[in-house]
This record gives sequence, C-alpha cells and structure tokens, in this order.
Amino acid sequence: MGALPCPMRTCGFPGFLWGAATAAYQIEGAVREDGRTWSIWDTFSHTPGKVHGGDTGDVACDHYHRWREDVRLMADLGLGAYRFSVAWPRVQPTGRGPAVQRGLDFYRALVDELLAHGITPMVTLYHWDLPQDLETGGGWPERETAHRFAEYAGLVAGALGDRVELWATLNEPWCSAFLGYGSGVHAPGRTDPVAALRAAHHLNLAHGLASQSLRAALPARAGVGVCLNPSAVRPLTQAAADLDARRRIDALANRVFTGPLLRGAYDDDLLADTAALTDWGFVRDGDLDVTRQPLDFLGINYYSPSVVSAATGDTGHRRHDGHGTADHSPWPGADEHVSFHRAPGELTAMDWPVDPTGLKDLLLEYTAQAPGVPLYVTENGAAFDDGPADGGTVHDPDRIRYLHGHLAAVREAIVEGADVRGYFLWSLLDNFEWAYGYSKRFGAVHVDYATQVRTPKSSAHWYAKVAASGELPAG
Ligand code: FCB
Repeated sequence: MGALPCPMRTCGFPGFLWGAATAAYQIEGAVREDGRTWSIWDTFSHTPGKVHGGDTGDVACDHYHRWREDVRLMADLGLGAYRFSVAWPRVQPTGRGPAVQRGLDFYRALVDELLAHGITPMVTLYHWDLPQDLETGGGWPERETAHRFAEYAGLVAGALGDRVELWATLNEPWCSAFLGYGSGVHAPGRTDPVAALRAAHHLNLAHGLASQSLRAALPARAGVGVCLNPSAVRPLTQAAADLDARRRIDALANRVFTGPLLRGAYDDDLLADTAALTDWGFVRDGDLDVTRQPLDFLGINYYSPSVVSAATGDTGHRRHDGHGTADHSPWPGADEHVSFHRAPGELTAMDWPVDPTGLKDLLLEYTAQAPGVPLYVTENGAAFDDGPADGGTVHDPDRIRYLHGHLAAVREAIVEGADVRGYFLWSLLDNFEWAYGYSKRFGAVHVDYATQVRTPKSSAHWYAKVAASGELPAG
C-alpha cells in the first residue's frame, strides 16, 4: 500500500519515540556508595575554582535513591523513552577488572522499572565520568583508555543486554576531547592542544572497539550508535576567508569524528591545519577500519548554531563559542585563523542563541552523510532562569517556545526526508550542569535541591501532551 496522504500537523512524527535524557554524574549523587570510586568529574568539581559556586555532583538529584519516584514521574508524563548514562566508576571503579555487582544491579533495577512502565531505555555508556584511575594513567590521550572502554562496554552489555535495545557508546566526544583536554573547562581540566587531538582519536577508537564488544555481547535486535554534538557552523559572510574559517571549524568540531566514524578517514585539511602541532602518528594502521563500524542509529545533540569569520584580531572564541570563558581555546590550530561571533536570536540562560534552523540543517545534513542510518535527536532543550516552584507550579513559557520551535524544525526535516525516529528532551530534571554547577536549570521538572522535591514545570505538561498526541499544537 502506498503512503496515505496525511496533513502534516497530525502525521509529522511517524512511529516516534518521545523521551527525555539525563546523565549519571548530573543526577545520581551517592558518589561514594556501593563501591563507586571517583571519576574525573568528582576530582574536577572538588578542585576549587573549577565549578561555579564550588558545586559538586556529590548529591545532585539524589536519583540513586529516588529512581523509582523518577520513573513514576516519567510514567505520569507519559514518556515513551528515557536516555540515561551508566556511571563507569560504579560498574568498574578503577576502569579495570571485574564488574561491581551492586553497580550493575542498580541499572538493572532501573531498566526493569522503566520497562514495567512501558518506557524504552536508551543506555549511554560514557557521559564523561572517566574513572579517575584511568586519567591518572594518562586518560583519553592514551590508547589504552580505548581498550579499557571496550572492556567496560562488554561488562554492561553482559548485564543489560537482555533488556536494553538502544545503546549509545559515547556522548559528545567533542566535549570530552576539546573541553576536557583543550580549553580545560571540563574535567580533567587539561589545556594541551595535542592531548585534545590525541583524545579525539582515542575516543573514535573507543567507539569502534566498544561497538565490536557490544555486538559480540548483544542480541542481533539491539541497536548500537553514538551521540554526537555536531556544530551547525555558519560563515559570517560568503567571503572566501570566512568560508575558510567555517571549513576549519567544521573539521575540528564535526569531521574529526564523522570522518573516522562514517568514512574511515581523517580529512586532509584537518591534518594540514594541525600539522604544526602533531603528525598524527598516534593513529595506527588499521585504526580507521575499527572506527568505522556499522551504525544502527546516529544521535544528534543540538542546542545552538555557531557563526565564524576569518580572525578579526579579538579572542572571540572566549566569548561566543558557547563554551565558557576559558583562557585556553578548545580549537587546536585554529585561533590565528578564526573568530567566533554571536549568532542572532533570543538568548537562553546559557547565552546560547535560540535558532531551530540549525537543528533542521543538521538532521538533513546527516541524512545525506549517513544514508540509511536512522537519526535520533538525543538531546535538545534550554536553560532559563525559571522561578521557584510556587504553589506546586513552575511556569516556563520560554522553554515551551524553545521546544515548540525545535520540534517544528524536526518535523520539517522529516517532511524533507530525514529519518528521525525520536526526540529526547534535555533534560528530565534540573541537574548539575557541569562547570555551571546548579546555576543553570535545563529540566522540564524543577528540582528543589534542599528538599529534593520534584515539580513538573508547565513545559513538562506541554511536552506530555505532545508525546500523548504525537502532534504539535498550532502556534
Ligand atoms: C550537553 C551535555 C549534557 C548537558 C547539555 C546542556 O553538551 O551532553 O550533559 O549538559 O549539554
């Protein structure tokens, strides 16, 4: 039977998973319980001056103890899917050796509870909490870490593989490599451009090796993918020098991952742009066959676009690339050549401009770059300075507008041919927003950190209606 004609308003999201996302260090707390040891984010957040207000993930949303309540909350909102991450230091505290059973039991119970409520789990294996012992041994700039990750992936797959069908290896390897080892605004806080490039390669290798160990351990029906945060990077003008600046940032933000993952190669221009820093001798024969594994899905995380021009002489990257005010750049080899500019649009509390067209562009671009690979929007959302819960309600019209605009962009991309299978709102709960601590609230559900009371905001109720009907309200 051919496709039936169908008004866009009602059929824009065929067979869609409507979900929300979180990450272990941002919500779990209980950092010293049941055998968990420190990750690089524990060390970093406990280092004075690294995180706003000295905040840490020690307690966070106390999800480790309140997970049943949190699953009930999702069920009450009618969510169909939940993307969460497994804390590597809970499962394999030193990054080596056998799994800690209590760590695995926690995630198994969580998954069972989700399934009992009809909520599809998507597991992310690495959302930035590298066991500190592995960082002490050299961290992502060292090849060994990729092998450690593949082993850990196999342990988790062995424990959850009979009940989880959607597996993401890494979350946003760009942030792990370039914010963690380049600008140093994320853990482990190193500021070494060569270490950042080495980390990027070993994250690519880690994805490839872990995909192999997942496929060896999982039933054939399981889907294995990765969540990237591709940059929707735009030139300030069409002048050749601005287009070249765009090319450079596209290489360092996007193609440094999509090259090895989708095409099995690092592009020549990336190697040339960074040649003064490294000869990339850390890429060994055969690595690029390992990095290019079949992908069952590609996760796209999107918040905001970037605008670049040829260098104007100011240090624009420190202000407008959306990654804090570090003294060091997250763009190895690009500083002399590129300046960042604020994209037009209303700003969120992160100072990130609101522009849904970037999401549509990325979905169409990745449809073209990875033909036949289904896409998920694995993160999208916004921080706003939501007021406190007042009489049991929190009104966040700005977030509703943000979500509405971005979901409309997803629908347009689908209509134009993108195979988007689902959307995960970032985030289910207000939580520990990395270097910003608890000062930025991304949740659809408000968390009072003093009492741990959860209050769904108006956006949560709005999103619940969208998820239930599968359609966007007009306007
Ligand atoms: C992404 C991260 C996620 C969250 C959002 C706001 O880069 O993956 O953990 O912090 O940004």
